[in-house]
Parts: sequence; C-alpha cells; structure tokens
Amino acid sequence: MPAPTTPLQPDEDLLFRLLRQLDAAPQASQRATAEALGISLGRLNAQLKAVTEAGLVRLTERDSTDRRSRVAYALTPRGAAEKARLIDRFLARKIAEYNALHAELTGSAGKLTLPKHRTDDMQMQLAPVPELYVSYESAQKLKVEAAELPSWDLTARQVCDLELLMNGGFAPLKGFLGQDDYESVVETMRLADGTLWPMPITLDVSQDFADKIEPGQDIALRDAEGVILAILSISDKYVPNKAREAQMVFGADDVAHPAVNYLHHVAGPVYLGGAITGIQQPVHYDFRARRDTPNELRALFRKLGWRKIVAFQTRNPLHRAHQELTFRAAKEAQANLLIHPVVGMTKPGDVDHFTRVRCYEAVLDQYPSATTTMSLLNLAMRMAGPREAVWHGLIRKNHGCTHFIVGRDHAGPGKNSQGQDFYGPYDAQELFKAHEAEIGIEMVDFKHMVYVQEKAQYYPANEVPEGDTILDISGTELRRRLREGLEIPEWFSFPEVVAELRRTSPPRSKQGFTVFFTGLSGSGKSTIANAIMVKLMEMGGRPVTLLDGDVVRKHLSSELGFSKEHRDINIRRIGYVASEITKNGGIAICAPIAPYTATRRAVREMIESFGAFIEVHVATSLEECERRDRKGLYKLAREGKIKEFTGISDPYEAPTAAELVVDTEGMDVDYCAQQVLLKLESMGLIAA
Ligand code: PPS
Repeated sequence: MPAPTTPLQPDEDLLFRLLRQLDAAPQASQRATAEALGISLGRLNAQLKAVTEAGLVRLTERDSTDRRSRVAYALTPRGAAEKARLIDRFLARKIAEYNALHAELTGSAGKLTLPKHRTDDMQMQLAPVPELYVSYESAQKLKVEAAELPSWDLTARQVCDLELLMNGGFAPLKGFLGQDDYESVVETMRLADGTLWPMPITLDVSQDFADKIEPGQDIALRDAEGVILAILSISDKYVPNKAREAQMVFGADDVAHPAVNYLHHVAGPVYLGGAITGIQQPVHYDFRARRDTPNELRALFRKLGWRKIVAFQTRNPLHRAHQELTFRAAKEAQANLLIHPVVGMTKPGDVDHFTRVRCYEAVLDQYPSATTTMSLLNLAMRMAGPREAVWHGLIRKNHGCTHFIVGRDHAGPGKNSQGQDFYGPYDAQELFKAHEAEIGIEMVDFKHMVYVQEKAQYYPANEVPEGDTILDISGTELRRRLREGLEIPEWFSFPEVVAELRRTSPPRSKQGFTVFFTGLSGSGKSTIANAIMVKLMEMGGRPVTLLDGDVVRKHLSSELGFSKEHRDINIRRIGYVASEITKNGGIAICAPIAPYTATRRAVREMIESFGAFIEVHVATSLEECERRDRKGLYKLAREGKIKEFTGISDPYEAPTAAELVVDTEGMDVDYCAQQVLLKLESMGLIAA
C-alpha cells in the first residue's frame, strides 16, 4: 500500500520509538526504557498501558532475580507489523520531502512524483529492502510464546514463499494475501492499492484447520521439522475460486499445467491472509555459502562497486550456449552478471538442484570472477509464463539487479491437455516489456544461441552467416543421449557438466522405475505383478520390490478401510515407498486397485521426479472379475455384506492415458507379463 505522506504525529513518533525500543531490548527494565526514550516513568507507564490495550505489546516475564522487576513488555506480532507500517510512513514522508527539495533546487516542480514504494528511489544506492524479521531478542521471546499458539505445518512450497516474504524477496508484500488483494491480483495483476504484483502468494490450509481458527487470531508457522519460523496475524479467511485463479493466473483451468494441478490437487481449500512476523529463516544445510538474501546480495554489489547487474534466471544445467548468451547479455547491457538459479521448486521432472549446483559451480570457472557471481534463489516456481516473468523481474529487482534476461517461452509449463503450448513463445517478453518501467528493471531479451560448425563458435540464431552449418542439441535430445549413454559433444557442453549429469542420470537401463498396475479386484494385477517380479529378478542388476494391494494393506495400511479418504492415503503411501525405491535405483512393482485418477496422477508425479512411471491398466471387465470371484468378495458385496466395494458399490475411474492396457480375459498370465516386459524394453528400461 502506498504509505500516506502526512508527517508522523508526535504521539505516533513516540509510539514508533517505543515499539522500536521494545523490539531491540525486550528484557530492559522500565527505567532503562524510559531513559532510552527520554520520557518520565509515569509517561512510559501510560504509554505501555495504551499499547497493551491495543494489542501491540504484551506483558511477559523477565529473567531477573529482582522481584520488583520481574515483568517486562514485549512486542506482539501486531506490534511488529505496526512498527513496520510506521517505518514505511516515515520513509515515504522523507522521500516526499527529498523530492520536493529536489524539485525546488532544480526548478522541475511540475515533475514531482511520489514513488509507490520506498525502495524505488533508493535502488541506485542499493539500500536495504525491508524485511519482516523482528530483532533477535524479540524473536527469542516470540518463539516461546508462539509455542502456545495453534500452529500450521508449512508445505514445501509455503516454506519457499515464506522465506522470500520474510527476507524482502517479495517486497512490498508484508504477508500472505488477504481476500481483496488476492482477488485483485488474480483479476488485474495488481494488489488492491494498484501496486503491480502478478502472483497470488497465498497460505492454503485444510478445511479442518480453517474451522479451528478465526481472523484476529495469531498462528505459528512451522517448517517440516516443527521449527517455528514466523507468526501469521490472520486478517482474512476465505475460500478461493480456484477455477478462476487457474484461468486468470495460468491462462487455463487445465491440470496439465503443473501449478493448476497443484492448485486443485495439492493446495488446501481455504486461504488465510495476514501480516507475517518473521522469527527465523528456514534452515538450509546445502550450499549455504551460495544462498543470499536480497539484502546480502545488495550489500555484496555495494561492496564490489557493481551498479548495473544483469540477472540470469535458470532451472536447468548451464551449457556452452547459456554461457555465450549470458556473456552477450552482460556485454550488451555493459553490466555485471548474476547467475541466479532457482533451487526451491521447479518443474516436476527437472534435474535435481544438487546436481545442477555442482554443474553451475563447474561452469562458473569459465566466467571472469571479477565480473560474474552466482547466488541460489529459494523460489517455488509456478511455471506461469508471462506472469511469472514479471514476478521474476520484481524479485530480481528486490535482489538489487537492474537488468533481467527474459527468454523465449520464459518459465513455460510445456503442453496443455490438447498438446498445444500454454503460452505464445514471446508472450512473456511482451508482458514484461509492457510493465518494464513499473517493475523497475530493464529487460534484456534472450538470444537463442546456436553453434556454427564452419566458424567453430556460437552465434545468435538470427545472425548465422548464410550457408553455414548450424549444430544444435535440444533439451529432449540431450535427455535421450544421457538416457542411452550416447556421446555429448564438446561444442555443446563442458566436460565437467556432462560428467556430473552422467553421474546422476545413468542410462535408463540402469535407473530405477515403477510399474504401477491398476484394475478391479480379481482383475489379475497381482498375478501379472508376481510374474513380472520374478522375470526382472531373473535378469538381475537392480533390486525389485513388489507392493501388492493385499500385502500393503497388511503391513503398511492395516488401520485403513475403503472410504475414498482411506484409499487415497493407502495409494499415497504406496507412491511414497515406490518413489523412494525408484530414487535409489530399484524397481518398484505396485498392484493396488487405485480407483481414483487424481491420486494415481499424484503418485505419478511423486515418482517421475526420480525415474520412469509405467501405469498398466489391467482392464479385465467387471463381469469377468465377478465371474472369477477368487476371494468370494463379489458375492458378499452383492449381498451388501461388504460395503464400498469397488465396481459394485464404489467407483472405479478407468485410466485414459495408461502406458499399457492389458486384458486378462482369454489371455494367459505369461502373455500379459511378456507385454509388460516388451513395453519396458521399448522404453529403454531394460537392456535388450
Ligand atoms: S485401494 O482402493 O487401492 O486402496 O484398494 P487395495 O489396497 O488395492 O485393496 C484391495 C484389496 O482389498 C480387498 N477388499 C476390497 N477391495 C475393494 N473394495 C472393498 N470394499 C474391499 N474390501 C476388501 C480386495 O481383496 C482387494 O484385493 P485385490 O488384490 O485387488 O483383489
């Protein structure tokens, strides 16, 4: 929100100084606080009473042996938010005064403009961006108090979002979006006050949790290990229109888009909005020295004397073409270069960030260290193409960059369910260009670089000398070569990068994978699965694990029944175990009924980030399964003695895009198993 520019009133000034003092020294005695503020004890007491009643400050215990001074006052999350608001107002006022003075001195009074946000005028000086953290002392106190609050365990994506909210990467946001801001961002790409902000940053929660809390309450936000990272002062609780969000933000309500799929199948049904009080940064154990907050990067640029910085966003390993293009971009803009790869969450199926960072480090040696640096960004990408490009620009601006490289199909999500691209190839560049001034960062357009054989060097595709031979290897071709262990030429990539990729992407015939059978009870899943297991074990090379429906129900899901909720939990458990097996280079064979498309899709996603997922629909008809009735269950189900029986009194959603469909009617098991093996062979998963 643009801060009003009226000066702080004397009582607001005192309020600000009091909040700042309590934040900096929550353990101080009242006498020390009064002295620091230059007011009498009586006046301090009156102030403390007022701010306590307003919920900005609360009484806490002080670590003191002196009985008379056992109590102290500490900031509440609301108090921290109020302090931040007052800082904004104060700075906005100062900027307005500066502008007025500037206009007076230069005589350009008519051109006086008030910046929307306080960082605008300070960008040149690389002044710090506002963070949402309280002081170390306040954080220690708030942490203890927050342990009593209702708490929400953040998802991986929410931890990424929270980190960038707290460290200023998402400035000017002060927390998760409330309903007005959310609706405005979805519809207009702007916050309710008109500030450009293209991506809804929302805290989605389960219905159960939402039912337990109300606006006005504070909740603790914890990471996966239970560490309290922040307090959310809830101002809004609302049910989003997800179909509308998908349409407006991602361009289509189509679950082939990874973020739309996330929205419908992973995100909770209720959103909470409100101000964040930051207690501590999420902990990272990997590549710590390579992670920088916006203010750390700004400080680095200040220290190095860098004024123009071009940022390169990437979620892929860098090859020679990338190095050429980033060099050119920096040269064109006469700027220093920041390689700024995303290591939070990228597109499902991308090369994992551990491998990528090792690759980046290898490539970094190819750049002159005096002009280039690299920093890792813990962003959860949405693959939202044009909107994402604008968002990336704002984030890089907050990190102190002045230029940003935007490519063809920037942050593209791949094909939609009709097999077409979600966005036009230049939509991202166009949207960015249209908002360039407002984003406050200049776009450098990405040149598609190709290798020209005769010249033995890279050229932008549109500048290749006529008649010369172009050599290029697409991403798909590179993956194929890695998969099949084929040569990757030196002109394409650096030997260190190729070695690194080969280490983590062995040929497919050495990778882990999952065969996931689905079908009605009695369709023959377990029989075929057993046959496949034995055949694969006979071949050797990789460990094979069978996760049969009945076996899983006995050892892993013995407490579960057959409601939709329980079936989903069961399948997700199987998916989790299979994904671990796949990740570690083994073969998982699963044979549950798995009646729901969305759950099967979720399992596919879990696994595809580590290896191949082969869905086999054992499409034996209900009539045939019932005729066989090997366990006598269909009879009981017909008699109503077994409730919720798949195919009889419970649904089975048949797959529409399984890798293989087998029908066991009139076919022997061996033939069906052969079909599966042939499929695996055609996919390169077992050596010929
Ligand atoms: S699910 O839906 O995927 O969680 O089911 P799954 O874990 O594969 O368990 C299916 C086996 O449990 C037996 N069984 C039932 N199946 C379906 N519906 C109901 N209500 C039910 N109650 C028990 C049945 O024997 C299934 O075994 P399979 O191997 O599929 O024949």
